[in-house]
Parts: sequence; C-alpha cells; structure tokens
Amino acid sequence: MRLGSAFAAPTEAEVELAEEIRRRLPSVERIRFTNSGTEATMFAIRAARAFTGRPLVAKFEGAYHGTHDTAVAGTPGVPRATSDLVLGLPWDDAAGIERAIAGRERDLAAVIVEPVQGAGGVRVADAAVLARLRELTTSIGALLIFDEVIAFRVGPNGAQGLLGVAPDLTTLGKIIGGGYPSGAFGGRAEIMDQFDARRPGALSHGGTFNGNPVAAAAGLATLRHLTPERYARLANLGDRLRGRVASAIDNEGLDARVSGVASLFQVFAGPSLAADDGLTPSAALFLGLLLDGFHVASRGMGALATPATEVDVDDFTDAVLGRIRSMQPVAAGPA
Ligand SMILES: Cc1ncc(COP(=O)(O)O)c(C=O)c1O
Repeated sequence: MRLGSAFAAPTEAEVELAEEIRRRLPSVERIRFTNSGTEATMFAIRAARAFTGRPLVAKFEGAYHGTHDTAVAGTPGVPRATSDLVLGLPWDDAAGIERAIAGRERDLAAVIVEPVQGAGGVRVADAAVLARLRELTTSIGALLIFDEVIAFRVGPNGAQGLLGVAPDLTTLGKIIGGGYPSGAFGGRAEIMDQFDARRPGALSHGGTFNGNPVAAAAGLATLRHLTPERYARLANLGDRLRGRVASAIDNEGLDARVSGVASLFQVFAGPSLAADDGLTPSAALFLGLLLDGFHVASRGMGALATPATEVDVDDFTDAVLGRIRSMQPVAAGPA
C-alpha cells in the first residue's frame, strides 16, 4: 500500500502472483488478472467463443459462475438471444451430459464447470465424469473451462490437481486476492494470446483496477502462507468437522446432512425439522449459529482458515448439532 494502490500499468506483485499461480497450475501457461470472479468467467467464455468461432456455452445444474449475462442466463433482464446460447448439463452424469450435447457439438464453444461446486452445495465432481468431459470436449473441438474461483482452495494445485484433469482455461478469484477484490483467467497460450494487444484484431481486456497491486500483494502473501503442510492441516480439520457432524447425524437419526472437501463444508438442515417463528430450517440454523458466535453463509456453507484449531472445529460442530437437535420435531405426548 505504501508503494501505491493503483497504477495504469502492471506491477511486480502482479507478475510474482502470476508466477506463483503458474507453479501451482501447470495448465495455466498465460494468465490475466481481473477484479472479480465474475469478470474472470466472462472473459474465459469470451476467449473460448472467439477461439472456436462458436456461440454455445454449456454449464451445469446448480452451478454459479458470477453475475454476467451468460452466467445468469434465463433470468429477468438477460435477453432471450443470450440465454438461448447457454445449454444446461446434469451434474455427475456422463451419459446425461452426452445426451444434452448431442446434435449441438459443432455449435459448442465451451463447457464451464466448477470441479467443486460451491453455491450448488459444496459438491465434488466425480473425477471419472470430469475425465470423460475432458475427452468429449477435446473430441468435438470445444474448450473445457474449470471455474476454480472457490475450488482452488482445496489444495496446493487446486481442484484440477486433486482430481487429475487439466482444463484448457481456468478461472480464479477469492483467495488469489487475499481478501481484496481480485480474479484471474488463464490457460493454454494459444487461447490466451488472443488478448495480446500487439496482434491485429486482438481481444480487448481493459480494466482500471485489473491486477491491482494491493490485491496482488495480499494474494501472493496468502498463497505463500498456504504451504502443502497447511493445506494438509486444513483438510484434516475439515475431515474432523464433517466426520463429527456426520456421525452424530447418523447415530441420532437427525434430518440433516454435511458435505464438503478439504477446508470447505456445508451443513444442511432437513425439511422435516421444526423451526421457530416460521423460519425455514436452514434460516433457523444460520441465525442460531450467529447467536452461538459462528458466522457461516446463510445457506450453511463455510471455509476453514489457517488460524482455526481443533477446539474451534469442535465448538462449531457442537453448536451445529445443538441447533439441529433443538429443531427435532417433538413427539406428541399422551393427551
Ligand atoms: C465458482 C464461482 N465462480 C464465480 C464467482 C463470482 O466471483 P465474484 O463474486 O468475485 O464475482 C463465484 C463467487 O462466489 C464463485 O463461487
């Protein structure tokens, strides 16, 4: 911050962050920084459409890729012509994916997928389905985009390292800004080189705050802090959290569920639970946890950070289970 917080030029921090990401994600031969994950997916999709000369983009049921028109196709305010260029795919269903794409192969520019869905319920994609998607996209000449805006945090080499599938393009956000606004998209050089301003007809990617030096420095510090040992410790804490919640749910027959991987988790309160004051069970869980001193996303999702200890995790799981137990429907007593 002392060196300056915004320049209309690249900075050393941005280059060092690019190098750090490239070491972690070998599929990212070139990278460009944005201010948000939304811009990252928007530009990755534009790059794919320009590279293939095709208009159609496929995305999965439950996916969240930000808020640009293609990402929220089918919602009010998005022109029909834009929404018609987005194809829906079923999650974790290789045969269903092939059926959905059949007949549209030559129109398809890209399939965009979160290898670990965030907003969709912290669902890890089946590695075999992702591998099939890799083969399918390659065989029809469409690009495969991994949206790792959330998923990048699951390990030193992101979800692509964990699941062993390499995309053509990757989008990033969140932790690469270390708490400041940031995002990035990158991948195969020949695709990214479309943005090389020295080329005639290059794709344009302006942005006053792209690669902001404060966000780049914060992101670099975050990634340097996240050593393989710290990722392993976070994953152990995540396993402890999910394991404790899941075994109590099982043992006590509670109508609840927990999902996640590594430092990511989501707890779900089932529809049969009796919440106070007309709240839905998930709202009651969220508000109850706030009263207990824990702030998760309102849908029950959270992420463990390196300061967390086993005691924190146990206090949190006790709070979750306490809230769920208190919502159990009370059996009617004798009249
Ligand atoms: C997978 C995924 N992609 C894209 C985005 C959009 O990122 P941003 O909120 O930085 O625009 C998000 C945000 O939650 C996300 O989870």
